[in-house]
Amino acid sequence: MSKIILTGDRPTGRLHIGHYVGSLRRRVELQNSGEYDKIYIMIADAQALTDNIENPEKVRQNVIEVALDYLAVGLDPAKSTLFIQSQISELTELTFYYMDLVTVSRLQRNPTVKSEIQLRNFEASIPVGFFTYPISQAADITFCKANVVPVGEDQLPMIEQTKEIVHKFNSVYAPDNPVLVEPKALVPEAEACKRLPGTDGKAKMSKSLGNCIYLADSADEVRTKIMSMYTDPLHLQVSDPGHLEGNTVFTYLDAFAREEHFARYCPDYANLDEMKEHYTKGGLGDVKVKKFLNHVIQEELEPIRNRRAAFGKDIPEIYNILKKGSEAAREVAAQTLAEVKHAMKIDYFEDMELIQAQSARYQG
Ligand code: TRP
Repeated sequence: MSKIILTGDRPTGRLHIGHYVGSLRRRVELQNSGEYDKIYIMIADAQALTDNIENPEKVRQNVIEVALDYLAVGLDPAKSTLFIQSQISELTELTFYYMDLVTVSRLQRNPTVKSEIQLRNFEASIPVGFFTYPISQAADITFCKANVVPVGEDQLPMIEQTKEIVHKFNSVYAPDNPVLVEPKALVPEAEACKRLPGTDGKAKMSKSLGNCIYLADSADEVRTKIMSMYTDPLHLQVSDPGHLEGNTVFTYLDAFAREEHFARYCPDYANLDEMKEHYTKGGLGDVKVKKFLNHVIQEELEPIRNRRAAFGKDIPEIYNILKKGSEAAREVAAQTLAEVKHAMKIDYFEDMELIQAQSARYQG
């Protein structure tokens, strides 16, 4: 069976290092592994509109930001198909048919939808489009028959919902010859990468909280953010024993630091374990740890920042890449939609047998 990847992001802002360790870094590795037959990376503008009804301009502006972030981290249009969700009208058609296979109560139980409804104060009146976005996400994943979906952990309920839709579709409409493919989520293994906290120590990086380090931030911005990061409020003097639990600087080091970084930037320690040990014993100051983290993150972000600037010099070409990608994705979606309509018995004009049988019935 061929190996196909699909994943994507909502264009509601620039991408940050939480996106990077949670999914982007992995995508590039998978892309360059050469093990996948097809890789689709989608800018989910239609999904972004489901909870940005008042903000079409914001979504529109951020499409190019996300595309630049993709190219900057090393997603390569020669190897991966980069495309814009709204340009694939087949996706809305698939969504409409999948709606027959999902109940309202099942959507209400989707943990991601549940928490997002709370977050956005949608309790009193939920837009139908927002409520049903997990179904549209199933269309995103199935149009290209993706079997691997690299995502952050918060997306697991979406993949689960997609699996259920695929299972139901195949068992109702295509029991002998399955049409859709069940996807598997690929989430980061390291705990720190699953959900990188904000620089203020809050559980999630989010633009509205102003606690993100963006891939596009300048070296100075990154440095300022790191030097003012949340650490251990009980670690007042260098000699005090420090705590690692909830200590954002160490969580970031868990996500980013490798042994070679110590040799280069902090040879007092062979590895992160040694540094942690000294910190918890007392005698290692926050400033020293933050300076080390700054070196590590700058090293990772510098090439990304430079590539972003280079791609930014030819914006028409970026739109051209997205257009070509969207055309390619659309062809694949049209093929899957044809198979779906055939399985659902709504392919009247392609089904010669049907036309003949009906005419025999009426003439005979
Ligand atoms: N829901 C994802 C997010 O908020 C974006 C997304 C839309 C997606 N469709 C997808 C991710 C399909 C993976 C597969 O980040």
